[in-house]
Amino acid sequence: MRHIMVLNAKGGSGKTTLATNLASHFANEGHKVVLADFDPQESSLGWLAVRGVGRPPIIGVAAHSEALRTPRDTEYVIMDPPAAVHGRDLANLLRKAETILIPVLPSPIDMRAAAKFVEEVKASAPVTGNKAKIALVANRAREVTNIYWELEEFLKGLKVPFLTHLRDSMNYIRAAERGIGIFEMAPYATGIDREQWEPIIKWLASKRSQP
Ligand SMILES: Nc1ncnc2c1ncn2[C@@H]1O[C@H](COP(=O)(O)OP(=O)(O)OP(=O)(O)O)[C@@H](O)[C@H]1O
Ligand SMILES: [Mg+2]
Repeated sequence: MRHIMVLNAKGGSGKTTLATNLASHFANEGHKVVLADFDPQESSLGWLAVRGVGRPPIIGVAAHSEALRTPRDTEYVIMDPPAAVHGRDLANLLRKAETILIPVLPSPIDMRAAAKFVEEVKASAPVTGNKAKIALVANRAREVTNIYWELEEFLKGLKVPFLTHLRDSMNYIRAAERGIGIFEMAPYATGIDREQWEPIIKWLASKRSQP
């Protein structure tokens, strides 16, 4: 059973967006997927609530208030934690996953916060003890802006695998509205997004993302 967490202490960085798209991706591949929402805001569970019944199923767990029990044949547990986790709470969360994706937005405030946060995660026992692998994803990228290129340089300097950027796109908003992922939308409308996700999917399938 794989445990994949999308983590960043900064609010609004794209944790829920990445978590729900990942869950939808693996479910569409025919895998048994649990989406564990550790956030009392329950954004992931809200997404799941509007997901059509005919879609490949994803099991939701309100992990912020109940024990994370998963069916025995679960293949992927995708974890969506809240913002602002640090210290002991962060240490407890980090122990739950072998693979951690950190989305970062192209904004000076987010980048400064990410610099600190990534150092905190890198110094944590699961990461130093090689029990968890981490990687970075630039989110809401607009390639025409200078700040995006600054973000890319910044992420490359953090000495953590930097996988890809996901563009700022209405596709993510529309997908969120409907309880689906971009992988469940028309391929002609989501070609760029699917391409941008490829390095994430590849990394998750490789040994590099597993201790
Ligand atoms: N690549 C993207 N393109 C367009 N909109 C995006 C993208 N990624 C995220 N968003 C939007 O940005 C907002 C914040 O994203 P999201 O809820 O995924 O962040 P979060 O880190 O889970 O936030 P929180 O810390 O509140 O849990 C949402 O409205 C989401 O739809
Ligand atoms: Mg969220």
